[in-house]
Parts: sequence; C-alpha cells; structure tokens
Amino acid sequence: MSDPVRLALVGCGRIAQVAHLPAVEKAEGVELVAVCDPSAAVAGSVAGRYGLSAAHTDQGSLWGDGSVEAVLIAAPDRFHHGLASEALRAGRHVLVEKPLAATVPEAGDLVELVDRTGLTLQVGAMKRHDEGVRYARRFIAEGLGGARSFSAWYRIGDLRPGIEATLFPPVFAEAGARRREAAVKADRRRYLLATHGAHVFDTVRFLLGDVASLVARHRQDDRDHVWQALVTTTAGAVGTVTIAADVPGVPAEGIEVLGASGAVRVDLHFPFSRRAATVRAYRDGAVVVPALTDGDVYERQVEAFARTIREGGHPDPDVRDGLAAMRLIEATATAVETGSEVRL
Ligand SMILES: NC(=O)c1ccc[n+]([C@@H]2O[C@H](COP(=O)([O-])OP(=O)(O)OC[C@H]3O[C@@H](n4cnc5c(N)ncnc54)[C@H](O)[C@@H]3O)[C@@H](O)[C@H]2O)c1
Repeated sequence: MSDPVRLALVGCGRIAQVAHLPAVEKAEGVELVAVCDPSAAVAGSVAGRYGLSAAHTDQGSLWGDGSVEAVLIAAPDRFHHGLASEALRAGRHVLVEKPLAATVPEAGDLVELVDRTGLTLQVGAMKRHDEGVRYARRFIAEGLGGARSFSAWYRIGDLRPGIEATLFPPVFAEAGARRREAAVKADRRRYLLATHGAHVFDTVRFLLGDVASLVARHRQDDRDHVWQALVTTTAGAVGTVTIAADVPGVPAEGIEVLGASGAVRVDLHFPFSRRAATVRAYRDGAVVVPALTDGDVYERQVEAFARTIREGGHPDPDVRDGLAAMRLIEATATAVETGSEVRL
C-alpha cells in the first residue's frame, strides 16, 4: 500500500461536516491533515472534532503548509475558481465540489491550468460513484442496443428539510457567514439551476455522452421553480431533463433510458442515506433488478481521487466534465431567456 494522500479540507461548512469529513475519516488511501475556513470558530471546532492541530483561516498559510499535498474544496461556488487556481498554482491536487466554477469562462480557465500543471483535478459530482449509476452506464453501453430516448428528473420536495434534520449531525456555523450565504442564495433562479443542474447534467452526460443542443422553459410560482429542457445528445438520443425545486412532496432523482433492444430505469436515493441507486434493466423479455453494494458516494469519490493521484489514470469526473456541466447550466438559462434552441 502506498502512503495515504495528505489532504486539507478548504471550506468547513454544511456539506463538509455532514458528508466529506465522515467520508474522509473512513476512506482508504487518504489522511486529513488540515482544515481551512475564514471563520476561526468553525475551523477550530472542526479541527477539534477530528483531532487536528492545523486549522488555517487563510489560504496563504495553507499553501505554506508543506504537509498538504491535495485539497478538497467545499467552499461556496463563487470561490471555487479562485481557490482551485491557487491550489493548482501551489502544486496541490484538487477535488472541488460541484459546480466546478461560477461561470463558463472560469471553468475554461481551470481546464487550461490543469493542462499546464499536469495535476489531478476531480469535480465533486459524486453520483458517478454510485454503484447503481455505474451499473446503468455499463448496461447502456452493452445491453441497450443504442439509446434512443430518455427522461431525467431532479426534484427537491418540501419534505427534504425534515429528512435532512433526521439524517444530519449538528453543524458548526457562524451566524454572519450563514446570513451572507443566504443573501447570495436569495437569487434562487440562478442558484437552484446551478446547484441542481450540476448533478443532473453530469448524470445525463455520464450515461449518454455529450449534449448537442437543447431548448428549455422555466416556470416560477413563489418559491417553486421548474426548468424543463428538451435535450438532443450528439449520439442522437432525444430526452427531457426536469429540475424542480421546493415543490410539494418527497425528493426524487432518476433517469429512464429507452434503447433499440432494452430499457433501464435508475432511481437515485438521497445520498446521505448511503444506498445504491435502484436499477431496473429490461432486455430479452426479463427485468433485472441487480443487488448492488450500498455505500457512501462521498467516500468513494475521495478514494477514487486518492487512487488517481497515487496510481495515475483519469479523474472521474474531470475538469472537462465540470466545464461541460457548466455549459449545460448556462445553455439552459440562455434557452429560457431567448426561447431559442441552444447548440453546445
Ligand atoms: N455534492 C453535494 O452533494 C453537495 C451538497 C451541498 C453542497 N454542495 C456544494 O458544496 C459547496 C459548499 O456548500 P455548503 O452548503 O457546505 O456551504 P456552506 O455555506 O454551508 O459552507 C461553506 C463554508 O465555506 C467557508 N468559506 C467561505 N469562503 C471561503 C474561502 N475563501 N476559503 C475557505 N472556506 C471558505 C464558509 O465560511 C463556510 O464554512 C458548494 O459549492 C455547494 O454547491 C455539494
């Protein structure tokens, strides 16, 4: 076994405390050596909980910390580009939360920087590390006879806060930082499309390849937003992608793909329940419901990141996948504004 990758967590907020820290603690091939957050109270509390002596409050001192060889960036979206660029320039590998950046030009800039430095950058679109999603990808490639049509859905239901309250541990947070983030997220039309689009568009591309074009509509009723996109892939499959946020009911996420000789439906579970997606794969008159190993996708993604650093290979998803998701988010917004088809 090679030495574990020495990792620093940059941004110690909600997803870091709820998902990344417990995942990193269990993951193989990685050791948490430092945390960084502008809030000294949050950085100190998290460091204390995990028995770390290194709690940085600015990136300058983090880059000077020679024990750190890679970072997991879990700061808000608008800081991803700045933090990831600084990390790469300082010679550190990067696992950055989705979306890769706040804009397409920022994401393009990171593609250039990764190419120039040769360092590993993986995007935290962690659904790719769900066993059910991976099973569906293999089935689509081998058993479907070519994808012809699909529908994908990503629905945040109003029961989600109660589910989160049940599953999540208590989270350290500073009231000021919480208010600042709430002010940014108040632009819900922009925020919801980016934060949820980063997941669903990555899943569509992971299973079906690149998107050639889309048209889209948006409807808002008070806090409820829905985006409905009609998408054509470069391989010619035609499908719909629905993003609906704060609508009544339970959260739901999935995709159904119909091909020439088979069909597959994937229902993803709330990631914090650590269950593999439920898959129903139809071919030759039989439906197969594979028994898959449940697991923590946040743990699997950081283990994959560490393996890529130590053993080589390709990060999954990589910086170009992150850029492609950003393009699809912006294309959806443009298609809504113009009412026209957008070619990618
Ligand atoms: N993959 C997933 O399932 C998932 C789920 C939720 C959020 N996210 C992503 O994770 C990121 C963080 O989301 P969150 O809900 O945890 O946010 P949050 O507001 O709860 O936490 C963000 C933390 O980052 C810190 N921070 C701010 N600026 C910083 C900087 N320059 N350097 C270091 N730290 C900084 C804040 O003080 C705060 O502690 C977002 O990009 C979001 O899209 C991903």
